[in-house]
Amino acid sequence: MNGLTILLGTASAEVKAKLSGVLQGEGYDVDSVGLAPGLFARLAERTLDLVLLSDDLAETNVLDLTTRIHDLHPKLPIVVVATEPSVRDAVEAIKHGAYYYLEASIPDSDLLDIIAGALELELELLEEAEHKRARRLVSFEDLESIEAIDSVMKRHDFASSRLVGVLQDIQKEMRYLTHDALRHVAGRLGIPLPRVYSVATFYKSFSLKPRGRHTVSVCLGTACHVQGGVGILEKLERELGIKAGEMTFDERFSLESVRCVGCCGLAPVFVVDEDFHGKVTQDKIASILENYE
Ligand code: FES
Repeated sequence: MNGLTILLGTASAEVKAKLSGVLQGEGYDVDSVGLAPGLFARLAERTLDLVLLSDDLAETNVLDLTTRIHDLHPKLPIVVVATEPSVRDAVEAIKHGAYYYLEASIPDSDLLDIIAGALELELELLEEAEHKRARRLVSFEDLESIEAIDSVMKRHDFASSRLVGVLQDIQKEMRYLTHDALRHVAGRLGIPLPRVYSVATFYKSFSLKPRGRHTVSVCLGTACHVQGGVGILEKLERELGIKAGEMTFDERFSLESVRCVGCCGLAPVFVVDEDFHGKVTQDKIASILENYE
């Protein structure tokens, strides 16, 4: 036994046997329930380190259940196991408070890595919070950043359910999501840091790297590729002196390639911030860029 207890919620004997076997083999103490009421009784009765919820759990919707558990125990990691996984459900699960969404058929070693990662990060977060509390430290060099982030969260009523909107607004103000900002949001909204990172890294529109004042996104979807999108990207790289994924030294532009931006009839297309430039040719690029200071 490694001293850690995982509560497994599943109505399927097959899922229970597979997951329990793998976890117990690694030394976890596994308790299991097949109905939502039983799960809440266990949560009230004993100290748990992680909840593993299968989407076959009887008589309830796994997303609603995730929200209810997360609201009651915001620091308890929840991992959702999907028997019929989909990207939409993955996004929803994370929005509802799950730390991770995985397929029931995941290899045993990956399952164990995810569980260990959830538990370790929770522990690190607690230790870090204790350390900062003890030393009364804030990790921001710039107190204005804290105030700006706090005012964004205030606009969202400090509601953990509005995490995506909070991160969008912080990125608008700071141009990218710093690690300190993510930590601060996690602490203030009472959301486990791993989950904040899961959301910040799941959506491609979020950036954890510094971004320029303007983001240039070159479409390399099929239609744009056929119409010379790669040439447009190469021309932009030469014009800006950077490669895709980088930022200019004066922080004026960031450059990235993206998949179809939804206006294939205008291919090739590139987007600067929210301005679409269609049917572009390489010789127009310099004059378009001049419009962005
Ligand atoms: S492929 Fe570029 S807009 Fe659709």
